[in-house]
Amino acid sequence: MNSDRDPGHVTQPPGDTPPVSAEVDHPYDFDMPLGEAMRTQRAIRRLTDEPVSDELVKQLIEFASKAPTAQNHQAWEFIVVRDRELIARLAKLNRRVWRLVDKPIAWLNRKDDKFIRTHRATAHQVDNFERIPVLIVCCMTATRHAPSPVVAASSYGSIFPAVQNLLLAARAAGLGANLTTMPLTVNFAARRVLGIPWKVTPVCIVPIGWPAGRYGPTVRKPVGEVTSIDRYGNRAWLDTEGPG
Ligand SMILES: Cc1cc2nc3c(=O)[nH]c(=O)nc-3n(C[C@H](O)[C@H](O)[C@H](O)COP(=O)(O)O)c2cc1C
Repeated sequence: MNSDRDPGHVTQPPGDTPPVSAEVDHPYDFDMPLGEAMRTQRAIRRLTDEPVSDELVKQLIEFASKAPTAQNHQAWEFIVVRDRELIARLAKLNRRVWRLVDKPIAWLNRKDDKFIRTHRATAHQVDNFERIPVLIVCCMTATRHAPSPVVAASSYGSIFPAVQNLLLAARAAGLGANLTTMPLTVNFAARRVLGIPWKVTPVCIVPIGWPAGRYGPTVRKPVGEVTSIDRYGNRAWLDTEGPG
Protein backbone atom coordinates (compact mmCIF):
# COMPACT_ATOMS: atom_id res chain seq x y z
CA MET A 1 0.00 0.00 0.00
CA ASN A 2 1.20 3.50 -0.67
CA SER A 3 2.10 5.91 2.05
CA ASP A 4 -0.92 8.04 2.88
CA ARG A 5 0.82 11.32 2.05
CA ASP A 6 4.18 11.13 0.49
CA PRO A 7 4.34 10.40 -3.22
CA GLY A 8 8.01 9.61 -2.71
CA HIS A 9 6.97 6.47 -0.82
CA VAL A 10 5.04 5.09 -3.73
CA THR A 11 6.35 1.68 -4.72
CA GLN A 12 6.95 0.29 -8.17
CA PRO A 13 4.93 -2.76 -9.12
CA PRO A 14 6.95 -5.93 -9.65
CA GLY A 15 8.53 -6.16 -13.09
CA ASP A 16 6.20 -8.91 -14.21
CA THR A 17 2.99 -6.98 -13.50
CA PRO A 18 1.10 -6.85 -16.80
CA PRO A 19 0.20 -3.34 -18.00
CA VAL A 20 -3.49 -2.49 -17.68
CA SER A 21 -3.47 -0.52 -20.91
CA ALA A 22 -0.93 0.45 -23.50
CA GLU A 23 -1.27 4.20 -23.17
CA VAL A 24 -0.79 4.65 -19.40
CA ASP A 25 2.32 3.83 -17.39
CA HIS A 26 1.63 2.34 -13.97
CA PRO A 27 4.32 3.52 -11.59
CA TYR A 28 1.91 3.65 -8.61
CA ASP A 29 0.65 0.73 -6.68
CA PHE A 30 -3.08 0.49 -6.05
CA ASP A 31 -3.04 -2.83 -4.27
CA MET A 32 -4.89 -1.77 -1.12
CA PRO A 33 -7.52 -4.41 -0.33
CA LEU A 34 -10.81 -3.29 -1.86
CA GLY A 35 -12.63 -3.67 1.47
CA GLU A 36 -10.15 -1.36 3.19
CA ALA A 37 -10.40 1.22 0.40
CA MET A 38 -14.21 1.20 0.58
CA ARG A 39 -14.29 1.39 4.37
CA THR A 40 -11.86 4.28 4.60
CA GLN A 41 -12.64 6.33 1.48
CA ARG A 42 -14.16 9.57 2.63
CA ALA A 43 -14.28 13.20 1.60
CA ILE A 44 -10.81 14.68 2.19
CA ARG A 45 -11.03 18.44 1.79
CA ARG A 46 -7.81 19.44 3.52
CA LEU A 47 -4.94 18.99 1.08
CA THR A 48 -1.26 19.83 1.07
CA ASP A 49 0.43 21.83 -1.70
CA GLU A 50 2.48 18.83 -2.85
CA PRO A 51 2.06 18.25 -6.58
CA VAL A 52 0.25 15.26 -8.05
CA SER A 53 1.82 13.91 -11.24
CA ASP A 54 0.05 13.63 -14.57
CA GLU A 55 0.90 9.90 -14.58
CA LEU A 56 -1.05 9.39 -11.38
CA VAL A 57 -3.99 11.47 -12.63
CA LYS A 58 -4.03 9.41 -15.84
CA GLN A 59 -4.22 6.23 -13.80
CA LEU A 60 -7.11 7.59 -11.74
CA ILE A 61 -9.00 8.37 -14.93
CA GLU A 62 -8.19 4.97 -16.32
CA PHE A 63 -9.72 3.37 -13.20
CA ALA A 64 -12.70 5.70 -13.53
CA SER A 65 -13.19 4.54 -17.09
CA LYS A 66 -13.49 0.91 -15.99
CA ALA A 67 -16.92 1.73 -14.52
CA PRO A 68 -20.17 0.49 -16.06
CA THR A 69 -22.30 2.75 -18.25
CA ALA A 70 -25.74 2.32 -19.83
CA GLN A 71 -25.29 0.26 -23.02
CA ASN A 72 -21.55 0.68 -22.51
CA HIS A 73 -21.81 4.11 -24.16
CA GLN A 74 -19.00 5.48 -22.00
CA ALA A 75 -20.63 8.86 -22.42
CA TRP A 76 -18.10 10.66 -20.26
CA GLU A 77 -15.29 13.13 -20.53
CA PHE A 78 -12.83 14.29 -17.90
CA ILE A 79 -11.18 17.70 -17.76
CA VAL A 80 -7.94 17.81 -15.78
CA VAL A 81 -7.48 21.37 -14.53
CA ARG A 82 -4.08 22.51 -13.32
CA ASP A 83 -4.03 26.07 -14.69
CA ARG A 84 -3.85 28.25 -11.56
CA GLU A 85 -5.77 31.06 -13.21
CA LEU A 86 -8.67 28.74 -14.14
CA ILE A 87 -8.70 27.16 -10.68
CA ALA A 88 -8.80 30.67 -9.18
CA ARG A 89 -11.83 31.52 -11.32
CA LEU A 90 -13.60 28.34 -10.22
CA ALA A 91 -12.65 29.16 -6.62
CA LYS A 92 -14.44 32.48 -7.02
CA LEU A 93 -17.60 30.76 -8.29
CA ASN A 94 -17.39 28.28 -5.43
CA ARG A 95 -17.11 31.10 -2.91
CA ARG A 96 -20.07 32.90 -4.44
CA VAL A 97 -22.31 29.87 -3.89
CA TRP A 98 -20.87 29.15 -0.45
CA ARG A 99 -21.68 32.68 0.72
CA LEU A 100 -25.34 32.05 -0.12
CA VAL A 101 -25.65 28.64 1.54
CA ASP A 102 -23.12 28.74 4.38
CA LYS A 103 -25.12 30.46 7.12
CA PRO A 104 -28.59 28.98 6.43
CA ILE A 105 -27.37 25.38 6.30
CA ALA A 106 -25.11 25.90 9.33
CA TRP A 107 -28.12 27.17 11.30
CA LEU A 108 -30.43 24.37 10.13
CA ASN A 109 -27.89 21.70 11.14
CA ARG A 110 -26.47 23.44 14.22
CA LYS A 111 -27.14 20.45 16.51
CA ASP A 112 -25.58 17.84 14.24
CA ASP A 113 -21.92 17.29 15.22
CA LYS A 114 -21.05 15.29 12.10
CA PHE A 115 -22.54 18.01 9.94
CA ILE A 116 -20.62 20.70 11.81
CA ARG A 117 -17.33 18.86 11.14
CA THR A 118 -18.19 18.48 7.44
CA HIS A 119 -19.22 22.12 7.30
CA ARG A 120 -15.86 23.25 8.74
CA ALA A 121 -13.98 21.07 6.27
CA THR A 122 -16.06 22.46 3.39
CA ALA A 123 -15.34 26.01 4.57
CA HIS A 124 -11.64 25.13 4.61
CA GLN A 125 -11.86 23.87 1.03
CA VAL A 126 -13.72 27.00 -0.06
CA ASP A 127 -11.04 29.20 1.56
CA ASN A 128 -8.18 27.20 0.01
CA PHE A 129 -9.66 26.24 -3.35
CA GLU A 130 -6.99 28.19 -5.26
CA ARG A 131 -4.30 25.94 -3.76
CA ILE A 132 -5.80 22.60 -4.80
CA PRO A 133 -3.12 20.84 -6.89
CA VAL A 134 -5.46 19.44 -9.53
CA LEU A 135 -9.17 19.28 -10.30
CA ILE A 136 -10.84 16.56 -12.32
CA VAL A 137 -14.09 17.81 -13.81
CA CYS A 138 -16.31 14.81 -14.57
CA CYS A 139 -18.67 15.41 -17.48
CA MET A 140 -21.32 13.38 -19.23
CA THR A 141 -22.06 13.51 -22.92
CA ALA A 142 -25.38 11.66 -22.61
CA THR A 143 -28.58 13.70 -22.72
CA ARG A 144 -29.38 15.64 -19.57
CA HIS A 145 -32.98 16.28 -20.62
CA ALA A 146 -34.56 13.17 -19.19
CA PRO A 147 -38.24 12.45 -19.98
CA SER A 148 -38.48 9.97 -17.07
CA PRO A 149 -36.63 9.05 -13.88
CA VAL A 150 -35.32 5.89 -15.54
CA VAL A 151 -33.76 7.85 -18.40
CA ALA A 152 -32.30 10.29 -15.87
CA ALA A 153 -30.93 7.32 -13.92
CA SER A 154 -29.29 5.98 -17.10
CA SER A 155 -27.70 9.34 -17.94
CA TYR A 156 -26.47 10.50 -14.55
CA GLY A 157 -26.08 6.89 -13.43
CA SER A 158 -23.51 6.46 -16.16
CA ILE A 159 -21.12 9.00 -14.70
CA PHE A 160 -21.29 8.47 -10.94
CA PRO A 161 -19.95 4.88 -10.97
CA ALA A 162 -16.89 6.34 -12.73
CA VAL A 163 -16.64 9.09 -10.12
CA GLN A 164 -16.77 6.50 -7.34
CA ASN A 165 -14.03 4.45 -9.05
CA LEU A 166 -11.98 7.63 -9.23
CA LEU A 167 -12.48 8.29 -5.52
CA LEU A 168 -11.58 4.70 -4.60
CA ALA A 169 -8.50 4.75 -6.82
CA ALA A 170 -7.45 8.04 -5.21
CA ARG A 171 -7.89 6.43 -1.80
CA ALA A 172 -5.83 3.40 -2.78
CA ALA A 173 -3.05 5.69 -4.05
CA GLY A 174 -3.03 7.54 -0.73
CA LEU A 175 -4.45 10.71 -2.28
CA GLY A 176 -7.12 12.91 -0.77
CA ALA A 177 -10.20 13.63 -2.87
CA ASN A 178 -13.83 14.55 -2.56
CA LEU A 179 -16.83 15.05 -4.74
CA THR A 180 -18.08 18.59 -5.13
CA THR A 181 -20.84 20.12 -7.22
CA MET A 182 -20.79 23.58 -5.67
CA PRO A 183 -18.46 25.32 -8.16
CA LEU A 184 -20.72 24.14 -11.00
CA THR A 185 -23.82 25.73 -9.50
CA VAL A 186 -23.16 28.90 -11.45
CA ASN A 187 -23.32 26.65 -14.47
CA PHE A 188 -22.96 29.10 -17.32
CA ALA A 189 -19.93 30.77 -15.77
CA ALA A 190 -18.27 27.44 -14.92
CA ARG A 191 -18.80 26.26 -18.50
CA ARG A 192 -17.26 29.45 -19.79
CA VAL A 193 -14.19 29.09 -17.55
CA LEU A 194 -13.62 25.56 -18.82
CA GLY A 195 -14.74 26.06 -22.42
CA ILE A 196 -17.35 23.30 -22.16
CA PRO A 197 -19.78 23.09 -25.10
CA TRP A 198 -23.53 22.68 -24.47
CA LYS A 199 -23.59 19.05 -25.63
CA VAL A 200 -21.33 18.20 -22.67
CA THR A 201 -22.64 18.42 -19.10
CA PRO A 202 -20.19 18.94 -16.23
CA VAL A 203 -21.62 16.89 -13.36
CA CYS A 204 -19.12 17.24 -10.55
CA ILE A 205 -15.57 18.22 -9.72
CA VAL A 206 -13.12 16.02 -7.82
CA PRO A 207 -10.34 18.09 -6.21
CA ILE A 208 -7.22 15.95 -5.80
CA GLY A 209 -4.12 16.34 -3.66
CA TRP A 210 -2.14 14.72 -0.89
CA PRO A 211 -4.21 14.64 2.28
CA ALA A 212 -3.60 16.89 5.24
CA GLY A 213 -6.55 15.24 7.01
CA ARG A 214 -7.19 11.66 8.05
CA TYR A 215 -9.08 8.96 6.18
CA GLY A 216 -12.16 7.11 7.46
CA PRO A 217 -13.69 4.88 8.66
CA THR A 218 -16.85 6.56 7.55
CA VAL A 219 -20.06 6.69 9.54
CA ARG A 220 -23.14 5.52 7.68
CA LYS A 221 -26.66 4.32 8.45
CA PRO A 222 -26.75 0.64 9.45
CA VAL A 223 -27.56 -1.84 6.66
CA GLY A 224 -30.72 -3.02 8.44
CA GLU A 225 -32.11 0.50 8.48
CA VAL A 226 -31.89 0.94 4.72
CA THR A 227 -32.66 -2.59 3.51
CA SER A 228 -36.04 -4.25 2.98
CA ILE A 229 -36.47 -7.96 2.44
CA ASP A 230 -38.79 -8.98 -0.39
CA ARG A 231 -41.21 -6.10 -0.01
CA TYR A 232 -40.56 -2.46 0.77
CA GLY A 233 -40.63 -1.75 4.49
CA ASN A 234 -39.89 -5.27 5.76
CA ARG A 235 -36.82 -4.37 7.83
CA ALA A 236 -35.99 -7.93 8.80
CA TRP A 237 -32.27 -7.14 9.12
CA LEU A 238 -32.78 -4.26 11.53
CA ASP A 239 -31.26 -6.12 14.47
CA THR A 240 -28.40 -7.72 12.58
CA GLU A 241 -24.93 -6.36 11.98
CA GLY A 242 -23.72 -4.96 8.63
CA PRO A 243 -20.72 -6.37 6.80
CA GLY A 244 -18.44 -4.75 9.39
C1 LIG B 1 -23.94 14.26 -5.68
C2 LIG B 1 -23.00 14.74 -4.58
C3 LIG B 1 -22.74 16.09 -4.46
C4 LIG B 1 -21.85 16.56 -3.50
N1 LIG B 1 -21.56 17.89 -3.46
C5 LIG B 1 -20.63 18.34 -2.58
C6 LIG B 1 -20.26 19.71 -2.58
O1 LIG B 1 -20.75 20.53 -3.37
N2 LIG B 1 -19.31 20.12 -1.71
C7 LIG B 1 -18.70 19.24 -0.84
O2 LIG B 1 -17.85 19.66 -0.07
N3 LIG B 1 -19.06 17.93 -0.80
C8 LIG B 1 -20.00 17.45 -1.66
N4 LIG B 1 -20.32 16.12 -1.67
C9 LIG B 1 -19.64 15.20 -0.73
C10 LIG B 1 -20.53 14.82 0.46
O3 LIG B 1 -20.67 15.93 1.30
C11 LIG B 1 -19.86 13.66 1.18
O4 LIG B 1 -19.77 12.58 0.29
C12 LIG B 1 -20.66 13.23 2.39
O5 LIG B 1 -20.73 14.27 3.32
C13 LIG B 1 -20.02 12.03 3.08
O6 LIG B 1 -18.75 12.39 3.53
P1 LIG B 1 -17.74 11.32 4.14
O7 LIG B 1 -17.50 10.30 3.06
O8 LIG B 1 -16.51 12.08 4.48
O9 LIG B 1 -18.39 10.70 5.33
C14 LIG B 1 -21.22 15.65 -2.60
C15 LIG B 1 -21.50 14.28 -2.72
C16 LIG B 1 -22.37 13.83 -3.71
C17 LIG B 1 -22.64 12.33 -3.82
